[in-house]
Amino acid sequence: MKQRTLTILKPDTVTHHNCGAVIARLEQEGFEIRAARMVWLSKEQAEVFYAVHKDKPFYRPLVEFMTSGPVWVLALEREDAIEYLRKVMGATDSAKAAPGTIRQQFGTNIERNAIHGSDSPDNARTELAFFFSTSDLA
Ligand code: RTP
Ligand code: MG
Repeated sequence: MKQRTLTILKPDTVTHHNCGAVIARLEQEGFEIRAARMVWLSKEQAEVFYAVHKDKPFYRPLVEFMTSGPVWVLALEREDAIEYLRKVMGATDSAKAAPGTIRQQFGTNIERNAIHGSDSPDNARTELAFFFSTSDLA
């Protein structure tokens, strides 16, 4: 079934000029880009986006990192987009991600891990709506 998911090319990907390479990889993997824009998240936006982690020890540093520079947010469409993107991204910790995954290739460690991907259909819906209006996604 065709699905949509949200990806964020994190500040480290922008800083290292890897956005083009990551998007090329996503297109090679069969994802269609349905919407895209660059945003510099405010502290409040990052806090809301990652609210599920608000009690974790890494929450403050995560918000700090995600607001350290601009990011690209993209709405992606593909067969089984949510699960497939998570597979192509690789493990959260770039240092432990499998060879050939985006996080292994473009990330550095558990925090600077290059890319975000929605982790469930419910979260994909919420996250797409967080960044895009319904007309963007038509
Ligand atoms: P994401 O939400 O960004 O796609 O990453 P994920 O699902 O693989 O990992 P998640 O558990 O949702 O964590 C969100 C982000 O928080 C940072 N993190 N730091 N220092 C730590 O132990 C730690 N654990 C997670 C990462 O940047 C992770 O992507
Ligand atoms: Mg997550």
